[in-house]
Amino acid sequence: VAQLPEGYTIRPLQKGDYQKGFLDVLRVLTTVGDVTEEQWDARYEWLTQHNDQYFLLSILDPSSRIVGTGALIVERKFIHNLGLVGHIEDIAVSKDQQGKKLGLRIIQALDYVAEKVGCYKSILDCSEANEGFYVKCGFKRAGLEMAHYY
Ligand code: ACO
Repeated sequence: VAQLPEGYTIRPLQKGDYQKGFLDVLRVLTTVGDVTEEQWDARYEWLTQHNDQYFLLSILDPSSRIVGTGALIVERKFIHNLGLVGHIEDIAVSKDQQGKKLGLRIIQALDYVAEKVGCYKSILDCSEANEGFYVKCGFKRAGLEMAHYY
């Protein structure tokens, strides 16, 4: 398991993460939009009510700014004997903090949770540019992503 740099911590998402730059970290990934603290609180509340399905992590730097995040969503299937599948989503590390193994640490933590809750596999979608990162995290190419935007 990759070690975090000195003074960094990894832990589940907390309500106060809005004020610690959580959404700014996600901006390296895609458009976040203008999410108010009230909207954040409502979504956070929903997530806590579904905390057997949604696992969100934050990595904090020594000054307690959020510099990394990732999510695991556990899907409950009928196939494979009521199998559980982990979906890894929204992995992001602040631009100035990339290359310190924070991304690897996030994936290892989510993998650990997925295995522990009984998932038989975890899957994710990524761009070709990120394939090497996920290969280093132990994933392999499987299938093809398709999307239908509404
Ligand atoms: N291609 C090839 N190898 C890579 C890449 C890459 N794009 N990125 C990192 N690596 C390698 C590193 O060199 C390192 O290798 P090493 O062990 O030989 O030294 C290993 O992968 C681990 O790298 P980390 O330092 O843990 O990577 P980092 O903390 O920079 O996080 C991440 C990688 C999450 C892709 C980050 O660059 C990022 O946030 N990018 C922008 C947002 C993004 O694209 N997120 C992923 C979207 S896909 C999804 O969310 C399911």
